[in-house]
Amino acid sequence: MSLNFVGAQATMPFKSILVTSRTYEGQKPGTSGLRKAVKVFQQEHYTQNFIQCILTAIGPKLKGCTLVVGGDGRFYAKEAIDIIIKIAAANGVRKLLIGQNGILSTPAVSCIIRKYKLNGGIILTASHNPGGPENDFGIKFNTENGGPAPDTVTNTIYNLTKKIKNYSIIPNLECNISEIGIRTFEVHGSEFIIEIIDSVNDYLELMKSIFDFQKLKNLLSSNIKPFRVLINSMHGVTGPYVKRIFIDELNAPLNSVVNTTPLVDFGGGHPDPNLTYAADLVQTLKNENYDFGAAFDGDGDRNMILGAKAFFVTPSDSIAILAENLNSIPYFQKSAVKGLARSMPTAASIDKVATSLNLKLFEVPTGWKYFGNLMDAGLLSLCGEESFGTGSDHIREKDGIWAVLAWLSIIAVNSKSIEQICFDHWLKYGRHYFVRYDYENCESEPSTKMMKVLEEKITNSDFIGQKFESDNEVFEVKLADNFQYVDPIDKSIAKNQGLRIIFTNGARLIFRLSGTGSSGATIRMYVESYESSPTKINLDAQLVLQPLIQIGLEISKLQSYIKRTEPTVIT
Ligand code: G6P
Ligand code: ZN
Repeated sequence: MSLNFVGAQATMPFKSILVTSRTYEGQKPGTSGLRKAVKVFQQEHYTQNFIQCILTAIGPKLKGCTLVVGGDGRFYAKEAIDIIIKIAAANGVRKLLIGQNGILSTPAVSCIIRKYKLNGGIILTASHNPGGPENDFGIKFNTENGGPAPDTVTNTIYNLTKKIKNYSIIPNLECNISEIGIRTFEVHGSEFIIEIIDSVNDYLELMKSIFDFQKLKNLLSSNIKPFRVLINSMHGVTGPYVKRIFIDELNAPLNSVVNTTPLVDFGGGHPDPNLTYAADLVQTLKNENYDFGAAFDGDGDRNMILGAKAFFVTPSDSIAILAENLNSIPYFQKSAVKGLARSMPTAASIDKVATSLNLKLFEVPTGWKYFGNLMDAGLLSLCGEESFGTGSDHIREKDGIWAVLAWLSIIAVNSKSIEQICFDHWLKYGRHYFVRYDYENCESEPSTKMMKVLEEKITNSDFIGQKFESDNEVFEVKLADNFQYVDPIDKSIAKNQGLRIIFTNGARLIFRLSGTGSSGATIRMYVESYESSPTKINLDAQLVLQPLIQIGLEISKLQSYIKRTEPTVIT
């Protein structure tokens, strides 16, 4: 591609200035980047500090590096991109690839970093948290493998934020990000390049290399009996991707996709694909004749899969079923399936498939970054999390649209309904009933206290062997601990990753504080039981799990600590 000098400013040399800053507390990236209220990011120097610290943390590779920048298009993204441009240029970055209008899904960023062998990327998203001036914004750094920065890098960034005194910036370097093309600026005698790229092209090309698009097209646009899908982008970033892939490429009817315009506030909704926040999708599926439904979160890495009449596939079952059927997907036909993995709180459905296929199964802490090392070492092909994350080693992020294409590939090969696929799976492997209770935005102090007291209780040696009874069901404790993970590749240790109580019948209770909230504390209680009897695999999960839920509330005394009787969300 040739370089264009666009606009008068392009020919004039730019000079950076050093701005005296002040430190801010709490710029600690959580499970997935720094997430705070927009108003926090709007404070003087706040965003600038964090960007400077991300760049400084790149170290010797910073000078002359190329980064990709984009996000879910939420409120404050354009301002943040403007700041990134000005600070990156001042810090000797050679080139920025920026999604048109700042739009790039999280999976697309991962794909672009890997495809063009970039030094990393900055993603502007608070994922599934609501957006708008009164809601959340977020900044996340991905490293050169395309995945979220590991703890070592985020700790470095955090330590830098605690002592930053100033940042370098070029205040008058402006770039219009709405037009695709290349702009070149002269900065300190070197070229600084900004390339505005199409948001969808690279990702679409990758999907075409993974899936059999002709087969999917036959499924969705057959003249005889098309498989009717309803894809809901929840006004997040996936809209443009979904339109290109499902309408333009796979010829699905126009009414197969909804809410495909990314909005700065997601239309006032909560862009989290679950039964509560994607209630409109659930209703439409219940009322109309669709065979399949799916929704994604704000930045496009999470997915929810539904069958006809809104039959719900739990994320834990979703990865297990994908694992069982990977041979329906060309990508996995070309190279043998390596290992499988799930996050610790995710139900153990995939463990059964791993055993049956003789594949290694890894159990990692919550957070996609923990899968990356395993993938880079060639040990992992498919993984997932109960928090609606599903993905493979095609990139280093979870991938909502990939999950939908994977499910459609299985359906195209098996010619069965989603419900039938799930039922057959439970018949073969038994069913892992799973539910998660979220208590959002609790006060931090009592929440931390509850976790501390609970940890003391369950790690006391007399806790093992204790029996709990509820509704005539008895659960005996087999193991209880605070989950800790030693990365098999770099041997790094992640501690305090959730309190787990495992019972002799395979049931589990897990308590964790969320790492993605922007204020206060969110407590999650994960409840799982296993049923292998064919007469008991098709029951209502909430009912089946009620006795265990009661035991969890009783052991933790959670309700009295946080003074709530009901969870905010049940998924
Ligand atoms: C993000 C990460 C996921 C992780 C989730 C956990 O979405 O990308 O990998 O599972 O956060 O969120 P939590 O709020 O439970 O810490
Ligand atoms: Zn997300």
